[in-house]
Amino acid sequence: MCGIVGYVGDRNAYPILIKGLHRLEYRGYDSAGFALVGKNGELNVYKCKGKVSALENFVEGKDVEGSCGIAHTRWATHGEPNSVNAHPHYSCTENIALIHNGIIENWALLKKALIREGYEFKSETDTEVLVNLIEYVRNTNKCSLLDAVRGALKQVIGAYAIAVVEKGREDEIIVARQSSPLVVGIGEGEYFLASDATPIVEYTDKVVYLQDGEIAVLTKNKPLRVVNFDNAECPIDVKKLEMNISELEKGGYKHFMLKEIHEQPKTIMDCLRGRLSPDSYDVILSGVRDNAYRFLSARRIIIVACGTSWHASLIGEHLIEDLCRIPVEVEYASEFRYRNPVLSPEDVVIAVSQSGETADTLAAMSLAKAAGCFVFGICNVIGSSVARASDAGCYIHVGPEISVASTKAFTGQVTVFAMIALTLANTLTRISRDRFEQLSKALLDLPALVQAELDTLDAPIKELAEKFKDSRDFIYIGRGYEFPVALEGALKLKEVSYIHADGYPAAEMKHGPIALIDKTMPVLAIAIPDALYEKTASNVQEVKARGGVVISVVSNDDEMVSKMSDYAIRVPVTDPCLMPVLVSIPLQLFAYYIADAKGLDVDQPRNLAKSVTVE
Ligand code: F6R
Repeated sequence: MCGIVGYVGDRNAYPILIKGLHRLEYRGYDSAGFALVGKNGELNVYKCKGKVSALENFVEGKDVEGSCGIAHTRWATHGEPNSVNAHPHYSCTENIALIHNGIIENWALLKKALIREGYEFKSETDTEVLVNLIEYVRNTNKCSLLDAVRGALKQVIGAYAIAVVEKGREDEIIVARQSSPLVVGIGEGEYFLASDATPIVEYTDKVVYLQDGEIAVLTKNKPLRVVNFDNAECPIDVKKLEMNISELEKGGYKHFMLKEIHEQPKTIMDCLRGRLSPDSYDVILSGVRDNAYRFLSARRIIIVACGTSWHASLIGEHLIEDLCRIPVEVEYASEFRYRNPVLSPEDVVIAVSQSGETADTLAAMSLAKAAGCFVFGICNVIGSSVARASDAGCYIHVGPEISVASTKAFTGQVTVFAMIALTLANTLTRISRDRFEQLSKALLDLPALVQAELDTLDAPIKELAEKFKDSRDFIYIGRGYEFPVALEGALKLKEVSYIHADGYPAAEMKHGPIALIDKTMPVLAIAIPDALYEKTASNVQEVKARGGVVISVVSNDDEMVSKMSDYAIRVPVTDPCLMPVLVSIPLQLFAYYIADAKGLDVDQPRNLAKSVTVE
């Protein structure tokens, strides 16, 4: 959580910082601020509660000149979201300013020690402790700022990406990383830094992803220097950034969420491209192919993930067990990491994460690695921590997902799971060549079917959303492959519209939740043509018999469930194991249009952040 951005060079830093903060706002938007070192070396901090736009209003008319600056958008962990707790934080003397993404775990102990040395604190944050610790080390040891940062970080336990500037040093920023992402962009005599590459992409395509335990010195017109905490020089691996600026703009859509929903025909195609041959129908996922023996000899596969990625993983479980007959377990990463799971080197652990930075997922991966498991990553953000911590992996290639509510990453993850299952099933000869080709072809047909859905469903779902925008609660039901889709549909509604929604396996209704049914409790029932269709139809009957209002998601040619329902959303049909992709699209649109009809901030729902880098 929290986004950090910085610039040092000859340009005016303020516009770069503000634009960068807007790009990073998906990471948190409780407060925002920046620090600038001006031409004469003066160090000024500007910060306020609220979004980046509030910060822009706040500094209107103020002097924001300076070509060295750091900026921050916050998702509050320590201390309530207000302007005092907002970053950057000054040290006591106001000589040093610091921004921080992450958590300093031993802040209380360090704070006590600093108070004993006469330090005073204005905020409740762990960050203010760190900036004062740096100042303390600098003053006590009479050392350089770099050595002070090193000395302070050696005493710190926690996760962080930090950037530090100092009064009188308008040509230098010091940055460091431990378990929180940090990218340095290298320009002509200038440097950029950010939590991810999105604020950097329009200035340079040369980037360095800092590793854990590295400190970088960004000095205008000087080569980049990277050292570890013991001051040993570290190798610098400059990567070429492959990112398109247009992917970071709304492209005419009102919100990123709507844009990303509509991008899915393309993103599913991008995910399949180069991996599934439209001629031979063969699937080539090099990360799976090159490690096939690990998967094939696996005692079981354990999938760890959070949130939407966890829902996609449940579909992955169905796909792999269904097609490959390999036992699969899906775990919340946050539970797995703390419950002392039984693991062995014969287990394969798949970590699924859009951002590749989710703290719990990373911790679950470490646990699995320590137990000798083979760890395979499925993520979207290139070069992310999950990608780097995996033994092998597979990107979903859906492009930057800016909306806090995940949509295209979900369908990308399901698409990748389908390709993994097909590859393994084929290698294990658990499915016939005919079935393999049938599913490969169905995967290739998905983008066109999703496009057809978007063309026909967008307007009617907008109308439907208008009818249900004032509902207080919702139940989503589905069975088999569609149960995780029900969970995901309910999560989407909750997070963007703030309507309480629960997902249930349809048959579980009668074990409790059916008590909730009355005419004020709409039930969204997924009843597509699969082996469980008749059974789901009976579950819908049970709801109707108790006066419930039913919105069903049914096939284009459905006759039975659509007749029982108050409203029916009709979707095209493909193989049941790929239907989760086609069913999730209208549920995404439904959540979006309800939130928009309520006038809510769809892309940045309250209390949420896209990248959950704290546990
Ligand atoms: C929901 C959503 C979250 C994320 C979760 C995991 O729309 O976006 O539930 O899915 O925080 O994030 P990643 O996939 O980045 O690990």
